[in-house]
Amino acid sequence: MSPYGVITFDGPAASGKSSVAQRIAAALDLPVVSSGLLYRAATLIAEGAQIDLDDEEAVMARLRRHDVELEPVHDGNRVRLDGADVTETLHTDEVDGSVSAVARHPRVRSWVSEHLRRVAPPFVIDGRDMGTVVFPEASDKFYLTASPEVRAKRRVGERAADLERVAHAIRRRDALDAHQLVPANDAQRIDTDPLTLDEVVALVLEALRARRASSVGAPTAGPTTDHAEEC
Ligand code: CDP
Ligand code: CDP
Repeated sequence: MSPYGVITFDGPAASGKSSVAQRIAAALDLPVVSSGLLYRAATLIAEGAQIDLDDEEAVMARLRRHDVELEPVHDGNRVRLDGADVTETLHTDEVDGSVSAVARHPRVRSWVSEHLRRVAPPFVIDGRDMGTVVFPEASDKFYLTASPEVRAKRRVGERAADLERVAHAIRRRDALDAHQLVPANDAQRIDTDPLTLDEVVALVLEALRARRASSVGAPTAGPTTDHAEEC
């Protein structure tokens, strides 16, 4: 039996959640689930229907017409909309710009949470409120942070876009997502500003091992670096 249940990674845009979640899942041979993709799929559906994104009932009426599936694959997730793979269309500037407006509707949030709770543990998942609202009973919770400047540089590296514009979009999304961006009390917080992806992954793996070692009576490992702290 796996010693893991649900391992959550929450944090703001470009803090490294999905990359770290993928690497941890690969290291532990677990599936990985990206909750943001479902919010992005809901946004794609609403944008395609050209409805008012602030109209929760109109958005929900559209979502009910479609079948959305999130399929964990070896290096991430594929999203199918009525059977068609739409994964590659979910990370556009257009979806980035509208997703927070769609994600703030309580019934959209319930729609996403219901999809996620159908996945059988163990798995690794990333999002904003995975450790607080969707899986409060998760076995291991991490909250990744980084300054808006560092996060903007990371995104520019990925999309070859203009730094100022990306930094502005990230700050705007932080503000709109603020309600969901509250760390769980029992999450381990990691400031990733000075850390490479490899260093964050090493820190998380060490924390997971230390917790399991201490739960079977072995000596508890102390904090591995100054960058990790309980929230
Ligand atoms: O990778 P990035 O953090 O940029 O985005 P994402 O995780 O794909 O999430 C896209 C958007 O979905 C976020 O900006 C939030 O508005 C919303 N979201 C949310 O509200 N709650 C989650 N658990 C995950 C995403
Ligand atoms: O999922 P989220 O939006 O939080 O971030 P991500 O998509 O995993 O990471 C955004 C980019 O930052 C990716 O290209 C990562 O490789 C990079 N990254 C980094 O350079 N250093 C880190 N410590 C974490 C992520």
